[in-house]
Amino acid sequence: MNNNIRVLVTGCNGQLGKELQIQFKETMPSLNVIYTDIDTLDITDCSAVERVVIDNEITHIINCAAYTDVDKAEEEKALSAAINSNAVSNLAHVAFANDAKILHISTDYVFDGTAHLPYNEADKVNPKNQYGVTKRLGETQLIGHCPECIIIRTSWLYSPFGKNFVKTMFRLAATKSEVNVVSDQIGSPTYASDLAKVIIKFVTARQWASGIYHYSNEGVCSWYDFAKAIFRIAGIHTKINPIPTRDYPTVASRPAYSVLDKSKIKATLGITIPHWEDSLIECIERLKQMS
Ligand SMILES: NC(=O)c1ccc[n+]([C@@H]2O[C@H](COP(=O)([O-])OP(=O)(O)OC[C@H]3O[C@@H](n4cnc5c(N)ncnc54)[C@H](OP(=O)(O)O)[C@@H]3O)[C@@H](O)[C@H]2O)c1
Repeated sequence: MNNNIRVLVTGCNGQLGKELQIQFKETMPSLNVIYTDIDTLDITDCSAVERVVIDNEITHIINCAAYTDVDKAEEEKALSAAINSNAVSNLAHVAFANDAKILHISTDYVFDGTAHLPYNEADKVNPKNQYGVTKRLGETQLIGHCPECIIIRTSWLYSPFGKNFVKTMFRLAATKSEVNVVSDQIGSPTYASDLAKVIIKFVTARQWASGIYHYSNEGVCSWYDFAKAIFRIAGIHTKINPIPTRDYPTVASRPAYSVLDKSKIKATLGITIPHWEDSLIECIERLKQMS
């Protein structure tokens, strides 16, 4: 059955895109997968997207492309909207017109963080910043054009590649004697490698399970807890001070609580999800091997 699948991955050089490349090559080396990023396929260019989909007889699109700089998005409103909303609309339009399935990644930042219990897929969205607004609009555009899509909302994504909190902590530890980290924003880290495996399960499942899903690693922590774990696992002795969000002002405001309820994805795929600290150990091991 997988012989009939022809996958297009967009944004393949980002954190998630790179992990998808690794996982596809390791687990399904004979599957037809075309990897593109902005240099080979700019997803804001609708006709280019359509050409690639038609020419390659694409059956499944996995959209890992996004504008992900949360603070810069406040300034670059048009660009962030073009990539996170309008381009997703393009992808949806092309997918629907060409009978291709589409799986898209969204974010915990569609929520405002005022909840005290993990957010499920039906909870009310209310993004607090431009990035969240553009990602939410991307979701609604996608569902509007392509109701059979899959959307996975994830949070606090990290990997050995690209820019992320784990790598920032390593960089700061190398240059500073003390690091201040926010302790009143609560969420769950997501190891991109774990998310990539889940995406492959959806794409290669016997039945396409359309809908919105939440995915992160198991467990809950603050950014401060996350930083403490990174340093402990990596054997770094730099001091970390917990600070409140008010002492670390950022251009974009962020939800104070963005824990995602993962019951639906676990039941649908029949999976257990690794705890964030176990996945962090694996990522740090890989980072050490790469350095
Ligand atoms: N990072 C997080 O903490 C986080 C949290 C929750 C959800 N998410 C979501 O998870 C998904 C994957 O995130 P990520 O961290 O892997 O992102 P990432 O590392 O920033 O990768 C995104 C990739 O998309 C590319 N791209 C940007 N504009 C494009 C365009 N117009 N056409 C084609 N490609 C384009 C980027 O290229 P350039 O680098 O050249 O711009 C980059 O290679 C995104 O949907 C993101 O919104 C991320």
